[in-house]
Amino acid sequence: MSTNQSLKPVTAENREHLYIGGCDTVELAQKYGTPLYVLDEKTIRTICKEYKHAFGGYKNIRMMYACKSLCNLAVLRIVTDEGFGLDTVSSGEIYTAYKAGADMSKVLFNGNNKSKEEIELALNLGVGRFSVDNFYEAELLNEIAVSQGKSVNILLRITPGIECHTHDYIQTGQIDSKFGFDLSQIDEIINLIKNKYNNLNLKGIHAHIGSQIFETRSYYDEVEILVKELARIKEVHGIILEEMNIGGGLGVKYTEEDCPPSVDELASAVTSAMKNAIEKYSIREPAIYIEPGRSIISTAGVTLYTVGSSKTIPGVRKYVALDGGMADNPRPGMYQAKYTADAANKMNFCEKELVTLAGRFCESGDILIENIELPRLEPGDIICVYNTGAYNYSMASNYNRVAKPAMVLVNNSQSDMIVDRESLEDLIARENIPDRLR
Ligand code: LLP
Repeated sequence: MSTNQSLKPVTAENREHLYIGGCDTVELAQKYGTPLYVLDEKTIRTICKEYKHAFGGYKNIRMMYACKSLCNLAVLRIVTDEGFGLDTVSSGEIYTAYKAGADMSKVLFNGNNKSKEEIELALNLGVGRFSVDNFYEAELLNEIAVSQGKSVNILLRITPGIECHTHDYIQTGQIDSKFGFDLSQIDEIINLIKNKYNNLNLKGIHAHIGSQIFETRSYYDEVEILVKELARIKEVHGIILEEMNIGGGLGVKYTEEDCPPSVDELASAVTSAMKNAIEKYSIREPAIYIEPGRSIISTAGVTLYTVGSSKTIPGVRKYVALDGGMADNPRPGMYQAKYTADAANKMNFCEKELVTLAGRFCESGDILIENIELPRLEPGDIICVYNTGAYNYSMASNYNRVAKPAMVLVNNSQSDMIVDRESLEDLIARENIPDRLR
């Protein structure tokens, strides 16, 4: 079993209270307040090692952590320390990578509408690869590279035309996608690079087929399509591309019903597809980039909440309200995502009741978990929602003018605040009343 197949962080223990990283989560809630994101360092390092081990047999593999899943200085320090490069999509992520001390040559800049300022920052900070998404960007990037007298290493982002079974909003590899070049446009862009964009140095191709993927078959198909394209490019343009980025997407286990493949299963699908495809199309084995986000960080994270009010509707349901919700975890509302939780201070209570965990935000859809069996809850109890490491803090908002929670990193019974809780002052810090309104 690999870590993405676990509901809980690898250090989760039931000692009547829930412990993570050797820390009593109830004490963490008291010390730092709630809602509180808790991140387990050991879980992050374990899954990073599982990835390295699983793909270790492939001679030229480059692991990249997809920063969009959770991006802060401490997290980037840990994943880069584990040898990962970074997949970034904005100047904010690039700047965080730089400030975290990342090797910028192992940073990839990806995205469908990079601005001039972002491209300039990326070039100034020495970002190693650009994934060029469209014609406009190729022109712009070349122009900026010329003005700086630099040659830029690029991958071409392509849409491989694969539909995998995940939520529509997080599917990216199908033909009708806003990302990347359609396969029919590849020759045109390569001709432009060969004849016009002299400061772009084409190294390879890049695709990403979606997120929260449960079928390794999709990766098998993707690799086959990409290798076929490399062979075609060699044939048509006489260019040997040595790099192939297959994106991220491996799923995680949010509920007991979820059965994501292991990292080993992913690796064997990718490497066997590669072996077969390079024989079939007789090309030299390219370097493979893989850029997981969710599967690296999701399981390591949990969110602690304090129970407040409740409302019982006879014959319908009992709502128990928490002190957070859709602003710190928008995923249930956006994707109908399901989560699992425990009462962290009542781990051994046997008598359970069926409740719906509601958020505190002014929207009826702000429900974190519908119908979950939990011990009878009272105000002040601590709820731990599992698997909130990915796409929770990174998509958090200040809806209802609620300050964003803090994040602590736990390891070996120690806890450190890695992101401070926002204050009321933070909420108004960048606002001004124009003189004429005074
Ligand atoms: N590479 C590219 C080009 C991507 O677009 C993404 C995610 C990744 C890698 C990382 O995928 P992962 O391994 O994390 O699945 N907000 C959504 C997920 C959006 C994913 C966007 N792209 C959610 O909460 O489910």
